[in-house]
Amino acid sequence: MSQAAEATAYAVRMEEVTRSYGSVTALRGVSRAFPRGGFTAVMGPSGSGKSTFLHCASGLDRPTSGSVLIGGTDIGRLSEAKRTRLRRERIGFVFQSFNLIPSMDVEQNITLPLHLSGARADPRWLAEVVGRVGLTDRLRHRPSELSGGQQQRAAVARALITRPEVVFADEPTGALDPRSARDVLGLLREAADQTGQTVVLVTHDPMAAAWADSVLFLRDGEIVAELADPTPTTVMAHWEIL
Ligand SMILES: Nc1ncnc2c1ncn2[C@@H]1O[C@H](COP(=O)(O)OP(=O)(O)OP(=O)(O)O)[C@@H](O)[C@H]1O
Ligand SMILES: [Mg+2]
Repeated sequence: MSQAAEATAYAVRMEEVTRSYGSVTALRGVSRAFPRGGFTAVMGPSGSGKSTFLHCASGLDRPTSGSVLIGGTDIGRLSEAKRTRLRRERIGFVFQSFNLIPSMDVEQNITLPLHLSGARADPRWLAEVVGRVGLTDRLRHRPSELSGGQQQRAAVARALITRPEVVFADEPTGALDPRSARDVLGLLREAADQTGQTVVLVTHDPMAAAWADSVLFLRDGEIVAELADPTPTTVMAHWEIL
């Protein structure tokens, strides 16, 4: 495929990505392309490499070997500064540990990615995103004044505020009640369906995984199974045989 066609078809492509931490190999030669506008869930036992997978696919971390292309650009060939800029402009990330800035209030945290790239918040989009994550009456609160679920929702709003081409979310519903979880998953689904954004979601929850178009199962740093058009029941059944 030409570089231009590649950039159009796939938002992200990983080729033979291996990531080792000293003697621990967290990812072993993973190859996978994420089509634009697709919603993929990633599941696997604790320690199977899911967070490492997301960190490498999003350019937060560099593979020990192999390559990652974001919109056709091989990020391994970019300088640290260019990689950071590409990530800021094109990627949204929800961290497993939220990573909110303690000294900033909710609104400042959510709009931080915009400020970092010198953009201003579109007030209507800000109100929309904040409303969807249910934090309209918490904008002046600091993260320490929020519940775990509220912090998680602020992290999701921060990832969506720049309308990134790709949203990576590491367990964004782990601390949420079922209704808030549905709202957050609905936001991600809408990002894929209505704006053609690409979503990659790590989750332990079969109900959450069922919102995706396909589910990848990781074990010991490798993709060992894949399931298309998942339902909670088929996800559970796959999980059982892993
Ligand atoms: N910075 C690091 N230094 C050393 N080892 C690491 C580091 N990050 C991850 N690992 C190891 O790599 C493996 C995969 O970790 P990873 O965080 O990707 O797992 P995970 O599937 O996200 O697990 P969980 O479901 O518990 O979040 C684990 O064995 C972990 O101990
Ligand atoms: Mg993890």
